[in-house]
Amino acid sequence: MRFNAVLLAVAAAGTAVAQRPANQSICDYYTTALLKQNNATNQYTLLTLLVNTAVIGNYTQPNVGIMVPGILNPNGTYNNTKVNLVPYFDGGLASTNDGGNMGVAKNFLDGGGAAPLMKNMPADDTTSNQYKLLTHLYEFFGSLLGCSGVGMTGFPAYAGDASMYEVHKFMALDPFQMGFFIEQVALSAASFGVAQSDIEAAGQALGSLFNYRCAPKTTVIKAQGPQYQSVCTNDSCPLADNATCAAQPSMPQPLVANATLADGEGRIPSGSATMSGSASGTASSASSASSASATVNAAPHTVPGLAGVFVALVAFLAL
Ligand code: HEM
Ligand SMILES: *[C@@H]1O[C@H](CO)[C@@H](O)[C@H](O)[C@H]1NC(C)=O
Ligand SMILES: *[C@@H]1O[C@H](CO)[C@@H](O)[C@H](O)[C@H]1NC(C)=O
Ligand SMILES: *[C@@H]1O[C@H](CO)[C@@H](O)[C@H](O)[C@H]1NC(C)=O
Ligand SMILES: *[C@@H]1O[C@H](CO)[C@@H](O)[C@H](O)[C@H]1NC(C)=O
Ligand SMILES: *[C@@H]1O[C@H](CO)[C@@H](O)[C@H](O)[C@H]1NC(C)=O
Ligand SMILES: *[C@@H]1O[C@H](CO)[C@@H](O)[C@H](O)[C@H]1NC(C)=O
Ligand SMILES: *[C@@H]1O[C@H](CO)[C@@H](O)[C@H](O)[C@H]1NC(C)=O
Ligand SMILES: *[C@@H]1O[C@H](CO)[C@@H](O)[C@H](O)[C@H]1NC(C)=O
Repeated sequence: MRFNAVLLAVAAAGTAVAQRPANQSICDYYTTALLKQNNATNQYTLLTLLVNTAVIGNYTQPNVGIMVPGILNPNGTYNNTKVNLVPYFDGGLASTNDGGNMGVAKNFLDGGGAAPLMKNMPADDTTSNQYKLLTHLYEFFGSLLGCSGVGMTGFPAYAGDASMYEVHKFMALDPFQMGFFIEQVALSAASFGVAQSDIEAAGQALGSLFNYRCAPKTTVIKAQGPQYQSVCTNDSCPLADNATCAAQPSMPQPLVANATLADGEGRIPSGSATMSGSASGTASSASSASSASATVNAAPHTVPGLAGVFVALVAFLAL
């Protein structure tokens, strides 16, 4: 819990922190501010904290009064619609892309589940699916935030699947599931004191990159070049400008692989082969989808908006 101690120390110090210089990345700037030494190890710690909190909910002390339910909370809601993403992570649904033409069930909580995350670790063991997923998330978001240590000892470069469409296509995610997921990332940042305006900017950046179906190829990780990145692929997702739907077809809802594990709030009860992750949200999601397609901008320059997540972090802590 070294990080928590540092966070507390920064909060208690009360020293004024200067505005982030335009020539320094968000990741580097806040690593310096919170962990003093700006090196790859500390940058990785920063990303670990942000991602772990988004995944399992707020667990660090002190907290600023922001409750983060967490992506793995089975009782999630988004816009008053129940959302339960757990079955996509615990093997309840055949929703993982393993290279074939159908989704397969895979348990991503096989490295100890939440317990290691609460210790600022990705998993108990490095051979688990959980370890791979969590470390890939640190790496992916670390690149988005411009961590200068990416690729150095202490901060491996993201080398997971380059196309977020390919990774997520068999999940057939809808706008409520996306909204809930992105909201957890935003709340995680907020739980460390990030200003509302920066949270909104971050949410919009994630939304414009991943929340439209059929979006043309876009570069997210520079070394991986332009890729299909649509994560929201359900028909009720807003359609991107210059849509490339033939290359990114929407897949059927994933099949139930384990009825016990697939059960949950906001889902059709076990036994159905066509469960949706947010069954109760269908009608409103369909009606809200059509209006949002005109303002898509999936270009890479939207990424710095995500970086805005951290803009007010140190300023807040310094108050
Ligand atoms: C802003 C939206 C999202 C982004 C940027 C994102 C990003 C990622 C990344 C980088 C990976 C790792 C891929 C790899 O290891 O090759 C991943 C995997 C995964 N994501 Fe997402 N994700 C998003 C939304 C969601 C949502 C809404 C769900 C809901 C269930 C989800 C479920 C998963 C699962 C289950 C995996 C593991 C898949 C596998 O390894 O095959 N993601 N995501
Ligand atoms: C950023 O700009 C300042 C002056 O504005 C300069 O002193 C510093 O070296 C620059 N840093 C980098 C990493 O370019
Ligand atoms: C980064 O700095 C920390 C001290 O803040 C140190 O423990 C760690 O070994 C350093 N990592 C690298 C890669 O130099
Ligand atoms: C999460 O944050 C809420 C709101 O500040 C707080 O009541 C709760 O105790 C926190 N949970 C943990 C595990 O720290
Ligand atoms: C979710 O709701 C159920 C039923 O109300 C409750 O038993 C469970 O503890 C809740 N889980 C979480 C993580 O809030
Ligand atoms: C959720 O509510 C916000 C604010 O009203 C709205 O902008 C957004 O489109 C809604 N999202 C979904 C999926 O309904
Ligand atoms: C869509 O394509 C047109 C013509 O190639 C281009 O001018 C425009 O910028 C594109 N829009 C987006 C959002 O990519
Ligand atoms: C479903 O998951 C439960 C809980 O992990 C397990 O006990 C059960 O054996 C699984 N059933 C099948 C058919 O795999
Ligand atoms: C879209 O999602 C709704 C509810 O989430 C579901 O009923 C519908 O079957 C989905 N459509 C497709 C093509 O997967």
